[in-house]
Amino acid sequence: MLYWSIGRKVGQLKMKRKQRIHIAIDGPAGAGKSTVAKHIAERLSILHLDTGAMYRAMALKALRLGIEPGDAEHVLPLLPRTEITVENKNGIQHTYLDGEDVSVLIRTPEVAKGASDIGVIPEVRIKLAESQRQFAQEHDVIMDGREIGSFVLPDAPYKFYVTASAEERARRRLAELREKGLGMDKTLQSLQEEILARDHTDSTRAFAPLVRVPEAVLIDTTDMSIDDAVNEVLRCIIAGE
Ligand code: DC
Repeated sequence: MLYWSIGRKVGQLKMKRKQRIHIAIDGPAGAGKSTVAKHIAERLSILHLDTGAMYRAMALKALRLGIEPGDAEHVLPLLPRTEITVENKNGIQHTYLDGEDVSVLIRTPEVAKGASDIGVIPEVRIKLAESQRQFAQEHDVIMDGREIGSFVLPDAPYKFYVTASAEERARRRLAELREKGLGMDKTLQSLQEEILARDHTDSTRAFAPLVRVPEAVLIDTTDMSIDDAVNEVLRCIIAGE
């Protein structure tokens, strides 16, 4: 069974609406979605759900069992006996796989590719999307992923598509990995190739692909600081765009 538990209390968002606050942020790998979403969540006192972490945790489970994440026949039996939980501790998401905190382990390039591959399997997506929708029913949330605005929360009143050039995204990923002491064998070029391959898998899969829905506000962060991107998203939310 997959379920979520989030420890942090939701604050009061000062907005002229009584229904739940749902903000969808989609975009390709390394565009800054999670960082922007985390800051927005803090500023609005709502929760941030990094849905990529769920796919990464599922991929880690498969990889540990020697199963190729794209191998649907062997991945499907894992679903009913996989427990993925998330806790928000002091604004930081911790992801647990069958009770083990895998937040750091899921950040490797190998798991990232596995997450992209496992995300092609429709049953995996349906299962994870159910948990995400249930979470959104219970909380005010900013959710980042690939298909939040198109598939998980199509009725979200605020939708953004955050992107950046492939080179800039690779540069950021490299800095992120180096900071964590991971992926020391990676170069800017090899990371850019991996990112483009992942973009391709994510945007061409048949079921719920990465897509910019027409109503999503486009935020290109290539030449933006995190603060600029956060302020632009906040400006759009407040202006009701
Ligand atoms: O956001 P991320 O880089 O942690 O995501 C890793 C992979 O997981 C991404 O390449 C595709 C998959 N994913 C997905 O299919 N749907 C999501 N909502 C989030 C991630």
